Amino acid sequence: MTKIPVHLDINGQRHELQLEPRVTLLDALRERLGLTGTKKGCDHGQCGACTVHMDGERVLACLTLAAQAEGRTITTIEGLAREGELHPVQAAFLEQDAFQCGYCTSGQIMSAVACIREGHAGSDEEIREYMAGNLCRCGAYPHIVAAVRQAAQEFAS
Ligand code: FES
Ligand code: FES
Repeated sequence: MTKIPVHLDINGQRHELQLEPRVTLLDALRERLGLTGTKKGCDHGQCGACTVHMDGERVLACLTLAAQAEGRTITTIEGLAREGELHPVQAAFLEQDAFQCGYCTSGQIMSAVACIREGHAGSDEEIREYMAGNLCRCGAYPHIVAAVRQAAQEFAS
C-alpha cells in the first residue's frame, strides 16, 4: 500500500515517518518509534491501556490513526517525568501500590493526569466515573482511586 509522510511531535521530539494511511498511532508509537510504554490491550477501544494525550486531552491510540496526529502534540507515559523526577501521578501510583501486573498502569496514569487536569477528581465517585474507560484485569481499582485522589490533593494544595 502507498505510504504517506507523517510528522509526529511526541514528548517534545519531532519524528518524520513514512506510514501506510491505515497505521494507528498505537502501532506507530510501539512498532516504529520503540515507545512501548503505551500498551496494546484490546486494540478495539475498550480497555484504555493505550491512552495517550493529544494536545493535552486523552485519546485512545488504538482508535487514532497516526495521520490524524499530524500537527498535534502527543504525550506518552515516557514523556511525563521531567528531568529524572517522576510526575506526581506516577509517584502517587507507586506510593499507593496502585498496580499489580502493571499492564494497565501507563494508560491509567495518562488518564489520571487528564482527569485531574479536567477537574474531574473531586471525589472518589467522580474519579471512578471519569476513569471508567480504563480497565484493570488485576482489580487494583481501590488503590488506583487512592493514587488519583492523593495526586489531585497535591495539585490542589
Ligand atoms: S488497546 Fe486501545 S482501548 Fe484497548
Ligand atoms: S495492574 Fe494488572 S491490569 Fe491493572
